[in-house]
Amino acid sequence: MKVAKTIESVRRLVKAARRDGKKIGLVPTMGALHIGHISLIETAARSCDFIVVSIFVNPTQFGPGEDFQRYPRPLEADLEICKKAGVDVVFAPTTEQMYPQENLTWVSVEKLTEQLCSRFRPGHFRGVATVCAKLFNIVEPDVAFFGQKDGQQAIVIRRMVDDLNMPLEIVVCPTVREPDGLAVSSRNQYLTDAQKKEATYIYKSLQKAQEMINASITDCNAIISQMRMILNQAPSIKIEYINIVDDEMVQSTDRIAGKVLVAVAVRIGSTRLIDNIMIDVGGR
Ligand code: PAJ
Repeated sequence: MKVAKTIESVRRLVKAARRDGKKIGLVPTMGALHIGHISLIETAARSCDFIVVSIFVNPTQFGPGEDFQRYPRPLEADLEICKKAGVDVVFAPTTEQMYPQENLTWVSVEKLTEQLCSRFRPGHFRGVATVCAKLFNIVEPDVAFFGQKDGQQAIVIRRMVDDLNMPLEIVVCPTVREPDGLAVSSRNQYLTDAQKKEATYIYKSLQKAQEMINASITDCNAIISQMRMILNQAPSIKIEYINIVDDEMVQSTDRIAGKVLVAVAVRIGSTRLIDNIMIDVGGR
């Protein structure tokens, strides 16, 4: 496994692989790798011959007062994980490599970034879309892999690639959960054991939505109020949003129809956690 710290070196390595006829897969991450990231790498390995993992805590997607400074950066452990997972190249650039000068060119995906996390993290998806566009231009992968865990992010990136005719395929992989249902996240390590127990109510609330939709309940307000009741059982959970949106335009909907994203964001202490499930009831 090679570790590329510069754009020039990752480009050289990918170019050589492409010359050998290899299909290039990219897994963009911010590091602090866990089984969620590993599942993306494993999926990539099934369809690609050359796997690049990028590890970059992207400053432009963090707002003032967010956890950019304290975001975990265990690079040595991450490299070990990548090596074991069969990664070919880890691209771990410095901020100076990625943003050598004031960034004046941004990718903003409109409409899809009006609801959900955008309301609480203004500018977040502009930073995500811009850094992903940069990573796609640097690595030029055939396929890039994202997690359903960040459902809105996956929708935004797909749309950017579509709208801007970027020559790659986006694959979205299922959310990996702890046995108790908690979605695995680099931010779970901020939680105490007691907070982690309370965090399981997030998935419980999503399961409740699934149950109600399975029982043909289509009234989104009714579903959201049941979810709220479940989350309120965990005293340290502060709900940021519970929303049900369509999977294409990410707009709130009153009635369940077609493919919907049931999404939750909460705060537990100073930690912000998000989770979602995608449900397809057909016929929109
Ligand atoms: P990060 O939070 O490190 O996540 C990297 C990728 O792993 C994302 O596509 C995310 O959805 C996926 N992922 C995280 N937890 C997961 C889980 N439990 N199951 C499945 N997939 C999971 O998302 C980012 O980084 C950044 O915004 C990035 C796209 C790298 C741009 O900076």
